[in-house]
Amino acid sequence: MLHREGEALLFEDPELAGLHAATIHIVRVALDGLPRDLGTGPMEGIDMYALVDPDSQWALAQASLDLLGTHLSDTAPFGGMRLSPPVAFDSRVLLRLQVLVPADAVGELRPRLAFALETMVREVLGPDALAVFSTEPTDDEDEASPEDRDAEPSGRGHPEEVAAWIASADQVTVLTGAGISTESGIPDFRGPNGVWTKDPSAVRLADIDSYLASSELRQQAWQERLHHPAWEARPNAGHRALVHLERAGKLRALITQNIDGLHQAAGSSPERVLELHGTIHRCRCLECGYETPMQEQLDRVRAGELDPPCARCGGIQRSATVAFGQSLDPTVLRAARAAAEACDVFLVVGTSLRVSPASHLCADALRAGARLVIVNAEPTEYDRAAAAVLRGPIGDVLPAIVGAPPS
Ligand SMILES: NC(=O)c1ccc[n+]([C@@H]2O[C@H](COP(=O)([O-])OP(=O)(O)OC[C@H]3O[C@@H](n4cnc5c(N)ncnc54)[C@H](O)[C@@H]3O)[C@@H](O)[C@H]2O)c1
Ligand SMILES: [Zn+2]
Repeated sequence: MLHREGEALLFEDPELAGLHAATIHIVRVALDGLPRDLGTGPMEGIDMYALVDPDSQWALAQASLDLLGTHLSDTAPFGGMRLSPPVAFDSRVLLRLQVLVPADAVGELRPRLAFALETMVREVLGPDALAVFSTEPTDDEDEASPEDRDAEPSGRGHPEEVAAWIASADQVTVLTGAGISTESGIPDFRGPNGVWTKDPSAVRLADIDSYLASSELRQQAWQERLHHPAWEARPNAGHRALVHLERAGKLRALITQNIDGLHQAAGSSPERVLELHGTIHRCRCLECGYETPMQEQLDRVRAGELDPPCARCGGIQRSATVAFGQSLDPTVLRAARAAAEACDVFLVVGTSLRVSPASHLCADALRAGARLVIVNAEPTEYDRAAAAVLRGPIGDVLPAIVGAPPS
């Protein structure tokens, strides 16, 4: 069933021709002995292949079955799964895992399973695992190139469908990024009008080593804080929609990468808001950790101090935000992970998902069986793992999917 062509290992099976066996593939194939209808509607098979090291095959197989069990338990009726006997090939073995799911769930499940398996493979086999993932639908109607499919420029799924998922969910956890605040006049970093898109050198301001090393950079940073758009910004319809979600009793947690405080200003309960990257509303001494309200320090800058030192120890101060090179608050990160793992829907809004560990929360949620929904104007790396990707402006899309009254 496999043959070699140059560096690539290819399947001989005509239905699988063209797939590279050095990667794991999820494909839709003929049902091959599994029942086509369980009396509950049409079922379809999804096949997964992994070419792995013989030493790790059983660990991987067991972990795959456990993981699929978690992911499929909410897909009633779930037709079962089966692991074919491993086939030896070169120094490795080919595992084939076949699952049977309701036909109308295939489209949603395939990317979810692909993503879940990919993260699991890395966990079981380590970061250097040879087996990596790709989803390769074999259906004829899908003729887009893999690049086009990954990019999904126009998104996937409908707001009404997502609204129904949210309406029937007990717990929704939300992860927001700079994109939810652009409609309030705060530019993001990487969007078309982003601070870093327009001036790539501005990234230096977010690097802790550069900040500590250069008093000139610190003075520049204080001027930027003084004129930060957050002081004038007001929450927008996107922020308000998430307040509505909380009042509907569905919000498990609102995890944000933003530092602008606009979720709390909109009315989200401070105890539900997990500020992964801290807040610009406070200032912290990098030496002794003494914290003060930012406006107190900005008053000193307004009065002429160029780089106001800590009032307690004289140390260098900075906004209480996480710079590149600094760690996140472990308590906040732990709470965020727990919330990602405890939800039915993980709703990701206005983030390029280029910053970790924030982006890894998507993987945590998927692994725990949540539906991932992404609302973002531009493609992200997690789009293919999402059950829906909505591209419209956040201020329009969020009220529609959480059922908030028009504001
Ligand atoms: N408001 C803030 O607090 C703020 C602003 C800039 C940066 N940051 C910080 O910078 C980092 C940036 O990472 P990030 O992923 O949050 O932001 P990012 O700039 O990397 O990505 C923002 C994404 O939002 C999308 N977007 C922007 N406006 C949108 C709209 N109206 N509708 C739909 N999509 C829209 C953009 O296309 C982009 O993909 C974070 O760590 C954050 O702490 C915070
Ligand atoms: Zn100090």
